[in-house]
Amino acid sequence: MSILNKRLLSIAAPLLFLALLLPSLASAQEAASCLTCHSSMKGKIKTAGGSLIDLNIDTDRFQASVHSALSCVDCHMKFSDNPHTTPGGAVPAPIAALAQKLAAKHAVDPVAAAACTKCHEATYNKVVGSVHGKNIFDKNQTDGAFCIDCHGSPHYIVKATDPNAKMGRKHQVETCGKCHGDKKLIEKYHLQENVMDSFNESFHGRKLHLGHTKVPVCASCHNAHDILTKTDSSSPVFGKNKIATCGKCHKGANEKFVPAISHQKPGPIPHYTEKALIALLLSTFAFIVIHVLLEAFSDIRDAIFRKGRDE
Ligand code: HEC
Ligand code: HEC
Ligand code: HEC
Ligand code: HEC
Ligand code: HEC
Ligand code: HEC
Ligand code: HEC
Repeated sequence: MSILNKRLLSIAAPLLFLALLLPSLASAQEAASCLTCHSSMKGKIKTAGGSLIDLNIDTDRFQASVHSALSCVDCHMKFSDNPHTTPGGAVPAPIAALAQKLAAKHAVDPVAAAACTKCHEATYNKVVGSVHGKNIFDKNQTDGAFCIDCHGSPHYIVKATDPNAKMGRKHQVETCGKCHGDKKLIEKYHLQENVMDSFNESFHGRKLHLGHTKVPVCASCHNAHDILTKTDSSSPVFGKNKIATCGKCHKGANEKFVPAISHQKPGPIPHYTEKALIALLLSTFAFIVIHVLLEAFSDIRDAIFRKGRDE
């Protein structure tokens, strides 16, 4: 290699290194500049739209989330820098259109809520087409579940395998239950009433609460993103589809097996059988206790009696 080439290389190499480093440096700086304020802000404020929001972002929890490599403006696309006066690059038309549809549900920053589609497009489309998405996009309501209703704060999402994940095994039932156990929502949409109780009392639910790691949670039977009404022939809990749904875990599941667990109230027969078994158990106990007491009593009586005779 000539001296000149060597020189060029010694100059080019650090430059190349710098060029590779710059984009990540820029994003880190952006997050840092937003966080200069947002990591130290305390308390809640009421926005112009009337929603009460917490302006504090916990830097450590954000860094520990699945999105730690993202900069704030990957989602908050309408901002570029502090303090909100400089508009960001133009929001792409498809995202702006989605944001418009989400304006009532995500009044703080609908663009940020629409931005998930940039990186999770297939998932996003499934949710939009689901019974939850239709509630927002077709019925113009705000009650259907959208990304952060299920996954929790967009700033602190962790992998589903993490024990803190809202959609992980540990917390999923309670997260779906926030709405599916809510009387007002059940009434408003004529939803099936006792899904939470029936799940929690089912064989699966009881095992789950004991820490079993293989029993199903809500999404195991209903899917996660493309959740449909049970009368929709594509729903995993529609008619014969249940054979495949239960069959994921119960090999050989058939039409006779699949009604074994549902959200329907158990019929009177199992109910009375359970009551009768409890009564039988209690009377057996009572019998044993009385028997022991009587025996003890007769021992004491015998002892006293004998003592008297010996004298
Ligand atoms: C100089 C301090 C400061 C910086 C830097 C800053 N913010 Fe804010 N931010 C605020 C204040 C104050 C509010 C609350 C009221 C308001 O909107 O003025 C706020 C509110 C918000 C809100 C709630 C919605 C809204 O529009 O009010 C979002 C979202 C937000 N900031 C995101 C960001 C992002 C993303 C960045 C970085 C690009 C950033 N902020 C940088 C001070 C700051
Ligand atoms: C993965 C996408 C995403 C990233 C990355 C992100 N945000 Fe957010 N942020 C959102 C969404 C979605 C909302 C809720 C908007 C709504 O409900 O109207 C939100 C809301 C907010 C709010 C309002 C208070 C709240 O929690 O609802 C603030 C302040 C905020 N973000 C600041 C930041 C800052 C600062 C960063 C960078 C450290 C950041 N965000 C990174 C998606 C994101
Ligand atoms: C700029 C791209 C980008 C945007 C925008 C984005 N994400 Fe992500 N998201 C990612 C990447 C990359 C991962 C995977 C991280 C990994 O596997 O470590 C991820 C992972 C996830 C996970 C997976 C957790 C798990 O169980 O593994 C969820 C849930 C998620 N994102 C939700 C959202 C939501 C909700 C929004 C919008 C508020 C959003 N994302 C916006 C890039 C993005
Ligand atoms: C009704 C609740 C619900 C809604 C709404 C929801 N998710 Fe999920 N999501 C789940 C469940 C359940 C899982 C699976 C967790 C597991 O792996 O066990 C999941 C997993 C994920 C994953 C990781 C695995 C995968 O399928 O890629 C990503 C990414 C994700 N969701 C993004 C989103 C985005 C983006 C939105 C909004 C468009 C969204 N989710 C809305 C329940 C939901
Ligand atoms: C933010 C509240 C909310 C959360 C969280 C939520 N849902 Fe829903 N869900 C609704 C509402 C509201 C409807 C009714 C929508 C409509 O009819 O317009 C619904 C409908 C449904 C339906 C169809 C019911 C019917 O009668 O058509 C199923 C199944 C369902 N949800 C399952 C789930 C599962 C499983 C989870 C958790 C992984 C979940 N939901 C989380 C609010 C929620
Ligand atoms: C073992 C599978 C299974 C599990 C786990 C499960 N479900 Fe269901 N779910 C069903 C079946 C099957 C139906 C159909 C009707 C029935 O059995 O009552 C149903 C119906 C529903 C409905 C009414 C649907 C409609 O269209 O009217 C809702 C809402 C619902 N489930 C929510 C949940 C929630 C929330 C959870 C978690 C707490 C859950 N389910 C757990 C199997 C399951
Ligand atoms: C995600 C996997 C999974 C799905 C899906 C699932 N189950 Fe189960 N089920 C289990 C596990 C694990 C057990 C507990 C086995 C044990 O501990 O003996 C169980 C136990 C049961 C039992 C009691 C014990 C037995 O084996 O007879 C019944 C009944 C049952 N499931 C019915 C159903 C029905 C009906 C469906 C569909 C509507 C279904 N299950 C869907 C995993 C699943």
